[in-house]
Amino acid sequence: MHIAVIGAGYVGLVTGACLAHIGHRVICVDNNQTKIKRLQRGQMPFYEPGLKDLLKRHCKLKQLSFTTSIVQATKESTAIFIAVGTPSKKDGEADLTYVEGVAREIAQAMDSYKLIIEKSTVPADTGQRIRRTIQMNLPLRFRKGGVATLEFDVASNPEFLKEGSAIQDFMHPDRVVVGVESVKAQRLLRAIYAPLKATMVVTDIRSAELIKHASNSFLAMKISFINAIAQICTLVGADVVKVAEGMGLDSRIGRPFLDAGIGYGGSCFPKDVDAFIRLSEKSGYHFNLLKEVRQVNDEQKAAFVRLIEDKLWIVKGKTVGVLGLAFKPNTDDMRNAPAIDIIELLQHEGAKIKAYDPQAMANAQKILKDVHFAKDPYALAKGCDCLLLLTDWQEFKKINFQRLKKLMKHAILFDGRNLYHDENLPALGFEYYGIGRRVGITKKE
Ligand code: NAD
Ligand code: UDX
Repeated sequence: MHIAVIGAGYVGLVTGACLAHIGHRVICVDNNQTKIKRLQRGQMPFYEPGLKDLLKRHCKLKQLSFTTSIVQATKESTAIFIAVGTPSKKDGEADLTYVEGVAREIAQAMDSYKLIIEKSTVPADTGQRIRRTIQMNLPLRFRKGGVATLEFDVASNPEFLKEGSAIQDFMHPDRVVVGVESVKAQRLLRAIYAPLKATMVVTDIRSAELIKHASNSFLAMKISFINAIAQICTLVGADVVKVAEGMGLDSRIGRPFLDAGIGYGGSCFPKDVDAFIRLSEKSGYHFNLLKEVRQVNDEQKAAFVRLIEDKLWIVKGKTVGVLGLAFKPNTDDMRNAPAIDIIELLQHEGAKIKAYDPQAMANAQKILKDVHFAKDPYALAKGCDCLLLLTDWQEFKKINFQRLKKLMKHAILFDGRNLYHDENLPALGFEYYGIGRRVGITKKE
């Protein structure tokens, strides 16, 4: 099928590349000219494992192309995915300015049947609004007395990919959710996804929109739940890693998303939890449970900083080395990374910050002030009073701690992701603090 994907960001590019990979002819659109020029030259706007090769391969095979023109993409395609950003407004509500703008541009370019699919995460009722926007903006010759004479469909197809494993998630989804209001739209979406052989959930548009918000909020809730348990573990002297293992083996609970740490970050959970709270409030339901999820997440970062302050006693003038900056491993994405808040809180207390991340340093440099960026973990450790592990990159598991210890002023490690929970760092002479584990597991124990 000829498919357009509008918005060449994390979701749009992965969607475009993967749809091309399963046999469709895809045109990706973005209104950022520099981004499109770079993509046409084979340069990536961000780091996502495997994506560069996939884009290169399908561009070469002419299955995939890039443009800044929504008009061209609309004319060439039967199905059009909208994958532009839906950032938060000040009150947490999703800002749908980009979605509305794109819907208008698509409508103005339409001259035959189109299936317009919302891929962006949007509040329930956006599908109806897109439909109305398209009706109102069709070329005059397709509007008779306020009624559209050109056939089109709107559908919802929320995306569940995770950054860092986006291609794997897209190609092997747990389910594909489609919200449709016609048999034709359903048939087209089934044809688009048929090569994936995935379980498809077909529903009305509003339910599909809600499935996305409910899923993200539930996962955020799972993380906040285990983080609250971690706080209790610290207080009573239990080990949250073991508690998560014991809980997770219950098939009704499941082990994924029960890793306690410094809280969730990224471009989705914080924004989508806020948006769902606002959406519910506007609809007349006060989603206090979700407000608590957000509160626990904020508190997790503050509690981590309090632990560091307690153990260092005086933070002012101390050199703190930060291992990992990205909001999660295998990405260079710094959007809402917990590292930003933690570093800024420590800087406020007078700490000197050094940092290292395998991929995210270029993005971090645009956000963080007065941070010395090191070229590897050993250069980072040199002269540090303590180290903080803030992103659980697997390559940090390979660090030579004996070498690291010799370089540090004081061998103290605060492990914000429990990455080293199964390693005996105290035996190597480190004062080691994890999350939700016994406070003060030191070399003496
Ligand atoms: P992004 O910011 O990385 O990309 C959005 C792109 O849209 C940008 O390149 C921007 O230039 C482009 N754009 C904006 N207005 C445009 C216009 N008028 N015409 C053409 N292009 C335009 O965003 P993202 O992370 O890919 O997220 C997109 C949507 O998908 C959001 O609603 C998000 O919540 C949702 N989502 C994101 C993820 C994720 O992991 N990032 C996962 C699932 C769902
Ligand atoms: C999330 C959803 O998982 C995905 O389905 C949706 O499409 C987009 O939002 P993403 O933000 O890319 O994906 O990454 P995810 O793996 O969900 O991690 C989000 C945050 O939660 C990260 O900061 C991560 O470190 C944190 N996290 C995750 C935990 O703290 N504990 C966990 O057990 C899992």
